[in-house]
Amino acid sequence: MHIDVFTLFPEMFDGPLHASILARAQEAGLLRVALHNIRDWAEGRHKVTDEPPYGGGGGMVMKVEPIVRAVEGVLGADVGRVPVILLTPQGRVFNQRIAYEFAAHDRLALICGRYEGVDERVRALVVTDEISIGDYVLTGGELPAMVLIDAVARLIPGALGARWAPEDDSHASGLLEGPHYTRPPEFRGLAVPEVLLSGDHARVARWRREQAIRRTFARRPDLLEAADLTDAERAFVAQLRAEAAQQGQ
Ligand code: ADE
Repeated sequence: MHIDVFTLFPEMFDGPLHASILARAQEAGLLRVALHNIRDWAEGRHKVTDEPPYGGGGGMVMKVEPIVRAVEGVLGADVGRVPVILLTPQGRVFNQRIAYEFAAHDRLALICGRYEGVDERVRALVVTDEISIGDYVLTGGELPAMVLIDAVARLIPGALGARWAPEDDSHASGLLEGPHYTRPPEFRGLAVPEVLLSGDHARVARWRREQAIRRTFARRPDLLEAADLTDAERAFVAQLRAEAAQQGQ
């Protein structure tokens, strides 16, 4: 996977790209992140990348020419083939399904907006998708780009190492994960559930699935509609709902 990032602040990416799984994925040749400073495509002695908006109003708008020249120059013949994603609070809200969608590509381009946003013609000329990481406003698209890179990179086969499977994650099956425990078996009077020490793998799997459904019901009931559940599991959810309704009375 090759990811081109277009930003005015490439140095913001140094920390996240050079630690842990993202660093290992790059060392292993599974991930390449190329940082491009949009300023390098700006013209004139002052290399201006932003200007006040036509029509007045506060703030600054990122200019169209440097961004379009940068994206076309870097992508070359891949323009039109590669998703060009603008990070903006106006985009569709990112989730695990979209992470899988992007992970299916061998190359992505990310444009990090700043200030009041980018000149609308950037959208018309190069952008193919717009992503928001949530309904709040950040100072720019750099942190959202890092979130997207992290979520996508860990789905590249081999990136998590042999024993870690992204299919088990919260959200992968449409459910939140249940609780996890490791040693010691008891701490300050809190014991690890007996089933996890039983060595009975089928029982452990059943318990985990039930815990995942219980936790999703308690915290994110909205996810249960689209979750991949068996008929028996749907009946269990109906029972949880009935119990909750009774307790609410
Ligand atoms: N830029 C500023 N806020 C953002 C957000 N929530 N998502 C994506 N890009 C952004």
